[in-house]
Amino acid sequence: MKLLEGRTGLIVGIANDRSYAWYIAQALLEAGARCAFTHLPGEKNERRTRRALEELGLKDPWLVPMDASKDEDLDAAFGRYAESFEKMNFLVHSIAFADREWLAPGKFVETPRGAYLSAVDVSAYTLVGMCRRARPMLARGAASGGAAVMAMSYYGGEKVVPGYNVMGVAKAALECSARYLAWELGAEGIRVNVISGGYLRTLASSAVGGVSEMEEAVPKRAPLRRNVEGADVGRTAVYLASDLSSGVSGETIYVDCGVNTVGL
Ligand SMILES: NC(=O)c1ccc[n+]([C@@H]2O[C@H](COP(=O)([O-])OP(=O)(O)OC[C@H]3O[C@@H](n4cnc5c(N)ncnc54)[C@H](O)[C@@H]3O)[C@@H](O)[C@H]2O)c1
Repeated sequence: MKLLEGRTGLIVGIANDRSYAWYIAQALLEAGARCAFTHLPGEKNERRTRRALEELGLKDPWLVPMDASKDEDLDAAFGRYAESFEKMNFLVHSIAFADREWLAPGKFVETPRGAYLSAVDVSAYTLVGMCRRARPMLARGAASGGAAVMAMSYYGGEKVVPGYNVMGVAKAALECSARYLAWELGAEGIRVNVISGGYLRTLASSAVGGVSEMEEAVPKRAPLRRNVEGADVGRTAVYLASDLSSGVSGETIYVDCGVNTVGL
């Protein structure tokens, strides 16, 4: 029997086949999980996500639109999930947004209120909004195979990475939100963890100024002497969604080839 057989959950954040969420889906599917998905509203976005899911062998996926910054979209998507599935064993939050205009070295001090608030809203608050709506389904999941929430973060939420700017503030809020959620939902057997992934070339990361330097610097500095691959994060997602991590909650787990451990 595969590790995640009999488990069902929702994956939020597949834009294309380079998204971290795509690699997570690939690994969870390989481990036997049944996965449902959302896409950002809009025909082009839907087409892109469908194409990425086809590459995972999913011809007729469970896929609904959801702009996570809109309460009515969250209500509709989680409501439809509840109509289709009786439980949720895992919830993957792999979304972030900040206006790229403010994601360049030297621009943090210029960040307008609206850009700051929308970055924290989409990239951090949405984890709280999703967990609240998923709570009864996750509780049923906890009683039948386990319940694991996981969110994607980056080291720039902890230390200054010039150019990451307001996204770093949002990641700090995300990681702290995950700890509070872990404490409150843990009473129901729901685990909440964060994966702090290394740099991966994606749509979202291409919005951050100075990232190509990072891509070159990591293999020189990281203990594993390479950049992270999506599959590294996918395998950690399987660990977090499975009983292998049954005693792990409220943690931020680095999957970055160890680069966060190096001071110079
Ligand atoms: N790529 C990296 O180097 C890296 C490193 C560490 C962490 N992360 C994090 O991984 C996660 C996924 O990003 P990615 O790098 O795979 O890029 P990506 O562009 O493939 O994924 C970002 C996703 O966020 C979604 N999104 C944005 N605004 C949304 C909204 N309002 N409602 C719903 N969805 C919305 C997009 O549709 C997209 O699917 C993000 O949280 C990102 O910060 C990325």
